[in-house]
Amino acid sequence: MQKLDELYRGKTKTLYNTDDPLLLILEFRNDISALNGQRIDKFCRKGMINNQFNYFIMSKLEKFGVLTQIEKLLSQSETLVKKLDMFPIECVIRNRAAGSFVKRFGIKEGFYLNPPIFELFLKNDCQNDPMINTSYCKTFKLVKKKYLSQIQKLTYQINEFLCNFFLKSDLILVDFKVEFGLYDNKIILGDEFSLDSARLWDRSTLDKMDKDIYRQNRLGLIEAYEAVLKRLDIQLT
Ligand code: TMP
Repeated sequence: MQKLDELYRGKTKTLYNTDDPLLLILEFRNDISALNGQRIDKFCRKGMINNQFNYFIMSKLEKFGVLTQIEKLLSQSETLVKKLDMFPIECVIRNRAAGSFVKRFGIKEGFYLNPPIFELFLKNDCQNDPMINTSYCKTFKLVKKKYLSQIQKLTYQINEFLCNFFLKSDLILVDFKVEFGLYDNKIILGDEFSLDSARLWDRSTLDKMDKDIYRQNRLGLIEAYEAVLKRLDIQLT
């Protein structure tokens, strides 16, 4: 597999073309950002941690029956992935109130949301990824109705599986964001599942073990990410 030119550079990841038009190389960099890119920093080891955590979780989801873009772990910070035609939406599930939900509704952090809440956001950095709903998807032809209902169902299934999975390691899955795309006319989970895109709390202390440590300007981000890896028995290569 030959790594070719850069196709897309995001805030924390880079996609490269390969000599196979159906496959891309996804590189996780050491970068981190908050406030829609207004704050940018670098953390040593973060790229390899996120790459291998993402590969581990996506592999678990594959075994559970979710189709993912993952093909092969290539190196410490790179994974070979399918080239998807991404839907321009972000899907968020919230099991407990945190982050923007707390700000939006003034509900106390940690409040149980039962059944979990499903939210949609438009992928549009210039407009700060505004919240949307199914009506927006229809009017602006973002996602066909048949795909949207499948995407929502899949996101809830992923949530149920991962909540149980993390709980076995005494971790609470507070919320997460996922993105999907089409490949061969099938809906495939793309982008990433990492501690940048999900909130995980310790079950007994409710300590945060995710990107909120950085968002809240606290120390110990990489130590927390590594503690999660240790609990899940993920050994870095
Ligand atoms: P929020 O509370 O900031 O809306 O985020 C909800 C979850 O979605 C949280 O786990 C972080 C994740 N997320 C992303 O990964 N990328 C984003 O652009 C946004 C808005 C949220």
